[in-house]
Amino acid sequence: MSVTVRVPAKVNVQLAVGAARPDGFHDLANVFLAVGLYDEVTVTPADELRVTCAGPDAAQVPLDRTNLAARAALALAGRRGIEPAVHLHIAKDIPVAGGMAGGSADGAGALLACDTLWGTDASSAELLDICAELGSDVPFGLVGGAALGTGRGEKLTVLEVGGAFHWVFAMADRGLSTPAVFQEFDRLAEGRAIPEPVACPDLLDALAKGDPDLLAASISNDLQPAALSLFPELAQTLAAGRGAGALTALVSGSGPTTAFLVRDPESAERVVQALRASGTCRTVRTASGPAPGATVL
Ligand code: C5P
Repeated sequence: MSVTVRVPAKVNVQLAVGAARPDGFHDLANVFLAVGLYDEVTVTPADELRVTCAGPDAAQVPLDRTNLAARAALALAGRRGIEPAVHLHIAKDIPVAGGMAGGSADGAGALLACDTLWGTDASSAELLDICAELGSDVPFGLVGGAALGTGRGEKLTVLEVGGAFHWVFAMADRGLSTPAVFQEFDRLAEGRAIPEPVACPDLLDALAKGDPDLLAASISNDLQPAALSLFPELAQTLAAGRGAGALTALVSGSGPTTAFLVRDPESAERVVQALRASGTCRTVRTASGPAPGATVL
């Protein structure tokens, strides 16, 4: 018997970052939108805990106990006093180290898959608790849709979304480390007063109305200057998508994936062609959101 769970990637339509906290994390107002690019995590009983991964980026995925899928299985088994004797297989379609929460998605997916396989019957509150222990973006992988994350991003308030938003994503030819991008944010912020991060009312309104023009006008990512400072070539990718008619272009989370909001599938195609022709990225994908959170298939 095995259980497969499908989990979406995310794009941050607002990422407001506060000053570094004493624990090294940053308080955030993080508006997540799940988009239809998915990893699938399959869990099967085995002699001992083992992780495998397939997909274009599989070689970059750690297969040891640092993998968030392995850590999720260990966390749930530890709480129930059972052996985490499972094979976790990740069919990976979300870019690795791309700022789309691919690793976090695998953690959320593995947790739900193990809970289903083992019949541990954890409440959604307990699952969210374990997710928050695993990482700031992991709870959102479980919930999906759209949500405001506060604290370090792990405290979620579900948001209403009034329609589908169409996106193009350009994957870069190397990754960016999230801690490195936050460190660069701190370096660039030195000597400046950093305001408390708050969700932008116009942006929440744009989501509720399902209005892409309003969303484009209010979208923001405080990590973008830091990501561009570490990866200046991303500016050319952003310019290529803007030039082809994207409503807005931004770095997704800590990057280096770049995200282009478009009005409809036809304009998505024009942006896709322009990005491919620009030679400034490795692959280009389209997806729309909101997408559902972790789902047992
Ligand atoms: O929570 P997670 O393990 O995904 O965070 C990875 C790293 O990103 C942290 O170690 C920290 O450097 C940075 N981070 C942060 N503030 C947050 C979330 C993440 O500084 N709210």
